[in-house]
Amino acid sequence: MGVIGTGLIADFAHLPAYREAGATVVAVADVVESRAARMANKYDVAQVYTDYRRLLERKDIEAVSVCVPNYLHAPIVLDALAAGKHVLVEKPMAMNLAEAKAMEVAAERAGRILMVGFNSRFRPDVVKLRRLIQAGKFGDLYFAETGYIRRRGYPSGWFTVKAESGGGPVVDIGIHVMDFTRYLVGSPLPVSVVATTQNKFGACPVEDGTWESSDVREGLRDGKVFDVEDFATAWIRFDNGLVMTLTTAWTANVPRDRVYSNLLGSLAGASIDSYHPIHKRSEGGADVELLDVYTEEAGMVCDMAIPYRNVVTHCAEIRHFLGVIEGSEAPIMTARDGVVMQAILDAVYQSADQHREVAVVV
Ligand SMILES: NC(=O)c1ccc[n+]([C@@H]2O[C@H](COP(=O)([O-])OP(=O)(O)OC[C@H]3O[C@@H](n4cnc5c(N)ncnc54)[C@H](O)[C@@H]3O)[C@@H](O)[C@H]2O)c1
Repeated sequence: MGVIGTGLIADFAHLPAYREAGATVVAVADVVESRAARMANKYDVAQVYTDYRRLLERKDIEAVSVCVPNYLHAPIVLDALAAGKHVLVEKPMAMNLAEAKAMEVAAERAGRILMVGFNSRFRPDVVKLRRLIQAGKFGDLYFAETGYIRRRGYPSGWFTVKAESGGGPVVDIGIHVMDFTRYLVGSPLPVSVVATTQNKFGACPVEDGTWESSDVREGLRDGKVFDVEDFATAWIRFDNGLVMTLTTAWTANVPRDRVYSNLLGSLAGASIDSYHPIHKRSEGGADVELLDVYTEEAGMVCDMAIPYRNVVTHCAEIRHFLGVIEGSEAPIMTARDGVVMQAILDAVYQSADQHREVAVVV
């Protein structure tokens, strides 16, 4: 393996997950050499490059993780595929639909796996809920209300610069709830979007919870530019008739952070709601999370609370990527899922700019 970009997500997720899965990362690349060297030292990686193209030249590297700012996803992924590597690229797939489609086509032509880092698909509540949905327990799913809202938690640096990130909380965090919810309801295709975006806080001083990019944390840039939204809401219509709403914010005057997906089906509904105190119980001194399902049994309304323990979803994602490369697992997410999500992201900004509903053509 090789890891390109050794910032926050490489350190938090990719490098430790490869180690845990028993895969050998033989080289890392980052334009900030000291950071790459620090990560190489921390994770016993033999070689450091400042030019990722040197890493891609190595024949002993079969696959790479691409963990760089969003505007570099497309060029680096295209180079990696051209060099014959399988690729796990962080979300969002790209800066726009045209880039995402070019990446998908390049992977098909190269005969290589291209996966987008939708780690939330590996949340245990999502895995359990999907089993129930696939067992037919929900009937016809027709509405999904999703949200990813932080009270205070905007990332700084390249994340808040439109030309480097492509957008604000929609592409950074809203994408996760939209993607795992679309996965849950059977991966329908979007047909239209109405959305609005706002910037009411920008780079406001915060007491806690700021997610800094590595460059800001290390004093290499000041993080003062903030030309993306800090709040958005969207209404997305899918080709199977399902409607999904999204509310997402890096900063909002709400009582607490929320990550939620409330599904309505003709036979049952469900509520995923991370951080909600009533979605927890204590078992043997440890917190157990609860997935709530609302249904009917024997002519009575009935609530089910399905217990689960949280896992590090990135580790599960990387084990899956390795399993797909080895051929022991069928992919649960493909480049197409990244393309579909990119089409939604583009439509959100187009609709917000034009103040109208826009058609989505994937
Ligand atoms: N799945 C998730 O939960 C999750 C969480 C955080 C970030 N991300 C995604 O991961 C990606 C990286 O985010 P981050 O938080 O690690 O950012 P970061 O700024 O901390 O790290 C990015 C790294 O890329 C390096 N880089 C920049 N240009 C490069 C180049 N040309 N070649 C090699 N390295 C280069 C930077 O020096 C930096 O070390 C983004 O796409 C982001 O959306 C995903």
